[in-house]
Order: sequence, then structure tokens, then C-alpha cells
Amino acid sequence: MFAKAQIDAEKLNPDSPFFKNALAPTCAEPNLLSLLDNLGKLPAGFNGELFVPLLRHTNPKIRTLAAKNVGKLKNSRFLRELSQLAATEKNTFARREAISAIGRMRNETAIPILMQYLTDADPKVILQALRGLLYFKEKPEVQKALDSLHEHPNELIREHLTNEVKDKSARSQNAKKDPSHPSSPDALKNVIVHADVQKVLKVIPDESIHLTFTSPPYYNARDYTIYQSYEAYLDFLIAIFKETHRITKEGRFFVLNTSPVIVPRISRAHSSKRYAIPYDMHPRLTDIGWEFIDDIVWTKPDYAAKNRNGGFFQHRKPLGYKANSVTESVMVYRKKTDKLIDWNIRQYDDETVAASKVMGDYEKTNLWHINPATDKVHPAVFPPELAMRVIQFYSFKGDLVFDPFGGSGTVGQVALSHERYFFLCEKEAEYVERAKQTLDAALFTNAKPRFLSLPELKPELKERN
Ligand SMILES: C[S@@+](CC[C@H](N)C(=O)[O-])C[C@H]1O[C@@H](n2cnc3c(N)ncnc32)[C@H](O)[C@@H]1O
Repeated sequence: MFAKAQIDAEKLNPDSPFFKNALAPTCAEPNLLSLLDNLGKLPAGFNGELFVPLLRHTNPKIRTLAAKNVGKLKNSRFLRELSQLAATEKNTFARREAISAIGRMRNETAIPILMQYLTDADPKVILQALRGLLYFKEKPEVQKALDSLHEHPNELIREHLTNEVKDKSARSQNAKKDPSHPSSPDALKNVIVHADVQKVLKVIPDESIHLTFTSPPYYNARDYTIYQSYEAYLDFLIAIFKETHRITKEGRFFVLNTSPVIVPRISRAHSSKRYAIPYDMHPRLTDIGWEFIDDIVWTKPDYAAKNRNGGFFQHRKPLGYKANSVTESVMVYRKKTDKLIDWNIRQYDDETVAASKVMGDYEKTNLWHINPATDKVHPAVFPPELAMRVIQFYSFKGDLVFDPFGGSGTVGQVALSHERYFFLCEKEAEYVERAKQTLDAALFTNAKPRFLSLPELKPELKERN
């Protein structure tokens, strides 16, 4: 294996026999793979002929990486070899790379070859051909071929074309900064509204908040809320999350903590009913414009689970097994936009980005081991550690974090201690009182939380913004 520094040094020396020897098809496969993968940007005049025999190597990973490196040269001299690879290749990654490399040549002679792949069975191959052809989109024959893809069943192909069709000036407009992006209405900062969130949301201006982290009521599994039916419960949540979408700034995140719940049986003659809340919420959330980003699993220690194993433990008969549930879903969504996350980051000044960096060790997997928290008043509170991770990973300092189901105010407490603002709603007086205690105990003199009723909030919104 070669060190990156050695490879970089050899690239500066065009007379060195290093690459001729190290890229010979007879070299050991791990060495070839590592070298091809670490070549990086190729200098002008790099001898691309060295890759040609590797396009016929028996190892498909080597063929793929060889095609990728040929692509970097953007040289139509290799059109014939790459077309041959694309036509005969069985490995889907190598085929995609061959088409991508042909597209990168930006050579008119490649047009008929790329057009052939617009009807390929692999949508990723089509996407590569499409990307190559877009460079020639002014040509009537190319335009006609691309038009035929507007009805393609694959969503990524349709999306790619739609974004391309958008007029250029609108796109460059999009690339511009939005100076209002990092700010939020003063009237909402560090406020808890004691009211039904459905009513509160009606008075909140569009694009006011940066992040939502929430855990809604657990259908009829706990005692603080009762819904007539499961469908009514889902409709209730979706109406709230649709409004949340409206008040969220472009491209910003929505993080939902839920878990399947069980509604106990009414007698021994009946069975209990389990509701898969996260799974039922997901398609509804994407329908209203939340783009799926991540599924994080919050894992608790075994002792935290309600024991459902009693019967099975005794009889051990199949079908009667019931798993003790030690996990909850933490589903991450983003307000759908054609702008990249980089665009969101660019809206902040360098100091804010630097100050918001998540330093030190952090959880790298989607399995978050966090002990549950208990509270003497509220039956279902977030562990502050969970709120801390979400707030640090998905917001900047100075952002406004929203929790429509504020409960005891955990999101507020953690937002404040991480130099974010919070905006919470809670309908139960008892929990609002609890939030007062939680937040007062945090003793933040320069960010005194305010507890308002809805009639108090409305004029504030008018006056202060
Ligand atoms: C699962 S708890 C949230 C607990 C919170 N994450 C915490 O750490 O304390 C859900 C909360 O939503 C509140 N709630 C339910 N329906 C509501 C509504 N329509 N408007 C405002 N709050 C509501 C409940 O009273 C309950 O406190």
C-alpha cells in the first residue's frame, strides 16, 4: 500500500516509472485498489493509458475505480474503451462509472452513446447519462430525448430534470444569501405559551423557527390526552406538523421522537392493541413536505422496559413471544428544498458557525444509548442528553428551537444552556408550572423565560415584529 503523501509526491514527477509499475494489472489487488482510490486529482498530462488494461481487470472494483480515474482526464481518446466497458459490463457500479466518465468528456461524439443509456434498466445509469447530456441540452435531438424522461417512473430522474429546467436566473437567485435566515421574531424568543398548540400555530408568522424537536402525546397510552380514534390522533398530529412546516425556515430540521404504543386490553378475553406510531407518521410527514433525513434509535437500558415476557417466559410457545421495548424512534426530517445543507450553513457568519461546532467526542452511529429521565410532575420527559444532542447537531447558536408539546420544558432548558432561544407550547397548567420551575432553576439572568397566554402573545407578535 502507498501513503497518500507518497502518491502526491509521485504525481509531481512525470518522468518517474512509479505509476507504470504500481498500476500494472499484475499488481496485488489490495495495492491496486488502494492506489486507484487515493489518486485524487490527476495532473495535466497524466498517462491515462495506464488505466486502460485495468478496465478489463477481473475484479469489478478495480474496473470501477479505473473508469473513475479515466473520467478525471476528460479525454475523448478513451471513448472507445469506456463504451466497450459500458456495453459489456455486468457490474452496475462499473457501468455507472463508465457512463459518468463518458459524460465528463463533454464531447459531441459521446452524445449518441449517452442517449443509448437513457432507456437503461438502472436509474442510476440513466442519471449519469442524463448528467452528461445536459451539457448539450441546447441541441434539439438531446432536448427531445430528455423531454421523454419527464414521465419516467423514477423520482430522482424526474426531480433532476425539473431542477434543471428551472430558469437559470431563479437558480442563481436561490444561491444568494437570505439575510433574515439566522434571525427569528423577538416576540417568540424564550416564550412558553400556555395554550393549545393548534390555536397558537395559527398566529405564528411563516418561516419563524429554525428547529423543532418534540415528543407528542402517546395516543391514548398515557392519561394526559384522549383521542376519539387512532386516525383522529394521526390527523391531529399531522395538522400540527403541517403548520410547523409552514413556520420552519427553508431547509431546516424537524426531529420527532415517538415509539409504538400499546393500549391495554379491556379484559382477559380481549387482546391489547399495539399502534406503530413512527411508521404511520412517516408517510404522512413526507406527504406534507418533510424530507426524510435519518432514523435514529434511542436505546434505553433493559430495566427501563415494561416487562411483556411474563407469559412467554413460562410457556415458551411460539407466537406468544413479546419483545420488551427498549427503543424509541428519533426521526429526522428537513423542510424540502432544492438548496443544499451547505446553503443553510452559508447563511451564518463565520463566528456563529465556529462557535456552534460540535466539539469533542460524539455519537457516530444512529444508535443512541441514553438513560431515560423521570420527573416528579410530568410522566414522560425527555432526558436532557437527548435534547442536547438534537439541538447541537441540528441548530446554530442564536437559533430558535420550537417544541409544540413542551411538557416540563426540557427543550427550553437545553436550548438556553446551549445559547439557543426556545419557543414552547403546553396546554396543561400543571406542566407549565413545572416548566417554570425547570427554567427558573436554570437561572439564566440575561434570557429570562416568559410565560404567556395566547391572548398575551398575539399583541406581542404584532408590536414587536
Ligand atoms: C410527551 S409529552 C412532552 C414532554 C416533554 N418532551 C418534556 O420533556 O417534558 C407531550 C406533552 O404535550 C402536551 N399536549 C398534548 N396536547 C397538546 C396540545 N394540543 N397543545 C399543547 N400541548 C399539548 C401534553 O400535555 C404533554 O405535556
